[in-house]
Amino acid sequence: MENSENPQYDSKGRLIKVGRDLRHIAFIMDGNGRWAQRRGYPREKGHTEGTKAFERAVRYCGEIGLEVMTVYAFSTENWKRPEREVRKIMGLLEKYLDKLLEKASEYEVKVRFIGERKALSQRIRDKISLAEDLTSGYHRVLNIALNYGGRAEITSAVNRLISAGRRTVSEDDISGALYTSGLPDPDLIVRTAGERRLSNFLLWQSAYSEFYYTDTLWPDMDETEIQKAIDDYYNRTRRFGAVR
Ligand code: FPP
Repeated sequence: MENSENPQYDSKGRLIKVGRDLRHIAFIMDGNGRWAQRRGYPREKGHTEGTKAFERAVRYCGEIGLEVMTVYAFSTENWKRPEREVRKIMGLLEKYLDKLLEKASEYEVKVRFIGERKALSQRIRDKISLAEDLTSGYHRVLNIALNYGGRAEITSAVNRLISAGRRTVSEDDISGALYTSGLPDPDLIVRTAGERRLSNFLLWQSAYSEFYYTDTLWPDMDETEIQKAIDDYYNRTRRFGAVR
């Protein structure tokens, strides 16, 4: 069922459904390492908790009727981290894929992995393909950016168009050749843990996105914190360069 024009709240002010003009939220999940270090745990523990926060966010975004959610799980630069940490993140992703393969009908979300797959293990690549096939019929979309870089995405889109014989390209051609082809651009980009950078995330797609920054570390993000970001979004007027 389509969302109504305005967001809906319950009597306690809790968001029940987003309005029609909020279709896509993208999250830069930052602060897992700091969350762990502040508690005297190894950084890997932060990623375990971060995965719980991610699953919580996916569930919540579904409940409030969001059409598309995107998360930045692993950037092209994240390979520079200690091997043990990279292994941990890949392990968590694989576990999530296993869950998705088992519970697809419960999650009811079309999962898409965006990013360069060649660097991933064959086992993970196979599971990604299976999960994408199995969930392709659902309406709500979850994009997981894995080994993703925005510049690389735009470059490979343009190269693909050139290989197809194009000598000039339009903005629509480029949009259509990105991983996110056919999806609405993010209306809102949320970055946690106090950093105020885009870090090569959705460079093309974020041209008119609203940005929300919070000091909350990603593992501490819950429904209340996500609603704060959404409330902030609704308090702004988007003009897309025009005068209103
Ligand atoms: C940023 O925190 C987090 C990451 C680079 C990894 C995100 C990965 C997950 C939440 C787990 C796997 C994801 C899925 C989709 C199952 P950071 O380590 O850079 O934190 P810091 O800045 O405090 O060091």
